[in-house]
Amino acid sequence: MTDAAWTAFDAAAARDREARIADQFAADPDRLSRMTVEAAGLYLDLSKQSWTRAGFEACLELARATGVESARARLFGGEAVNDTEGRAVLHPALRAAEGADYRALGEPVSVEVDTVRRAMADYAQAVRTGRETGATGKAFTAIVHIGIGGSDLGPRLVWDALKPLEPAIDLRFVANIDPRDMAEALTGLDPETTLVIVVSKTFTTQETLSNAEAAKAWLAESLHEAGRDSHFIGVTAAPERAAAFGCGRTFAFRDWVGGRYSLWSAVSLSCVIALGPEAFDGLLAGARAMDDHFVSAPLETNAPVMMALAQVWNVDGLGRSARTVAPYAHGLRRLPAFLQQLEMESNGKRVHRDGRPVERQTSPVVFGEPGTNGQHAFFQQIHQGPEVVPAEFVVVRRTQGDAAEAPLWANALAQGQALMQGKTTEAARVELSGVDAAEADRLAAHKTFPGNRPSTTIVMDRVTPEAVGALLALYEHKTFVEGVIWDINSFDQWGVELGKVLAKAILSDVQAGTPSAGLDPSTAALLDRLMR
Ligand code: F6P
Repeated sequence: MTDAAWTAFDAAAARDREARIADQFAADPDRLSRMTVEAAGLYLDLSKQSWTRAGFEACLELARATGVESARARLFGGEAVNDTEGRAVLHPALRAAEGADYRALGEPVSVEVDTVRRAMADYAQAVRTGRETGATGKAFTAIVHIGIGGSDLGPRLVWDALKPLEPAIDLRFVANIDPRDMAEALTGLDPETTLVIVVSKTFTTQETLSNAEAAKAWLAESLHEAGRDSHFIGVTAAPERAAAFGCGRTFAFRDWVGGRYSLWSAVSLSCVIALGPEAFDGLLAGARAMDDHFVSAPLETNAPVMMALAQVWNVDGLGRSARTVAPYAHGLRRLPAFLQQLEMESNGKRVHRDGRPVERQTSPVVFGEPGTNGQHAFFQQIHQGPEVVPAEFVVVRRTQGDAAEAPLWANALAQGQALMQGKTTEAARVELSGVDAAEADRLAAHKTFPGNRPSTTIVMDRVTPEAVGALLALYEHKTFVEGVIWDINSFDQWGVELGKVLAKAILSDVQAGTPSAGLDPSTAALLDRLMR
């Protein structure tokens, strides 16, 4: 059944390859209504994707044949969806309404989720109101959040998106093992009024532990060992390691929370404090609304499913190996970085669940910049490069105050329009009237845009906690659906491990003062040069 659906998908893609997107609106008068959907306060328009009605139907059939609906039930049912690590994948439990009853591998988890959420809110309020102070009795006015990957990107995005112009708490993030990152974060801060929150699911990550050591030393310099603890908080799925490391207090989450799906957990403690528990509740509510939509909407009007199908269609049907994402909102500028981890760490996989090599491409390269900045950088290639790169625009009606941000979204709409319609050589020739004929021919070639390039547009009214929660949950479920269709495990990341192991080995060579005998000549020479 799956093979037949893929065969039909390939045949439909071969037929649609040359179809003009712009012509489809006349060919199929329902196109706009069928290709647009409202979900959890977001409006999605996939009508500028390169599929005809028949192409979209073939995609839906593929989703059915590959078992998207039953996989979705297994995810929400807390089954061992991460089957290389024997774990449930239950981030929706973290944003469920209080009193829900989620189970991970049969074990009830919701009571614990509610307890941690309340503890976070209490602690956040205590810090915000000055009830909880530093060792010398002064209120906390700054937070240094230390973490990397999933322990950094989500909270960083949320903070950028939702922070007030003049925050009461100065929240700073440190991820890179380059000491410069920590040095910049600590500059101007007073240890007496600074809270350090170390976020690491495993509490073994080299970058995070090394930065945490530096922050610990910085605190201890003025507060001494005893005073330091109340300034040094851990967030982890390994609380015993955090305690052994010296965290005075720990907020925990479980191993059924994947790192890149963890922003709904205590991983966002720094944001809960700096933005307030109500904003965090709003974020969870928006994600919950998207969860409700994802579990209940039929596949053909299911926003994450439609987004996933557009991706699979572009990647596997039409051979497009990259996708660009442009959030037209300064607050969402970290979205491309967040999606790089979410999508490429989840679905950058080369074998199926049973270990067989995949026959098709999985995750595309995901990259982007906020609009309109990206327009003045890499959009040239998206418009006229020989390879088609599907684009995604996240457009916000009001990014600031009550005024509609027309120049911002006019630009976003113009990009989608230009990509779809392009500019013919004839139109370019008209612009060149008066120019010598041979020269006009030459210039017209440069000024011609092929068009017929696909894009998706997502519209939100404002960058509220609810809208951000819905948007990020949309992308999480999209990523999951793609993994189901590709029959890969979206929830492990073995590919990151080898580099970690080798970095440790190289570091011991550095400590020994000489490259080890087994190193390849190139790496040995590079190391030698760096050690000089
Ligand atoms: O880069 C691999 C990775 O394991 C990510 O999946 C994870 O988000 C990140 O490192 C940080 O891991 P931890 O939260 O355990 O420090």
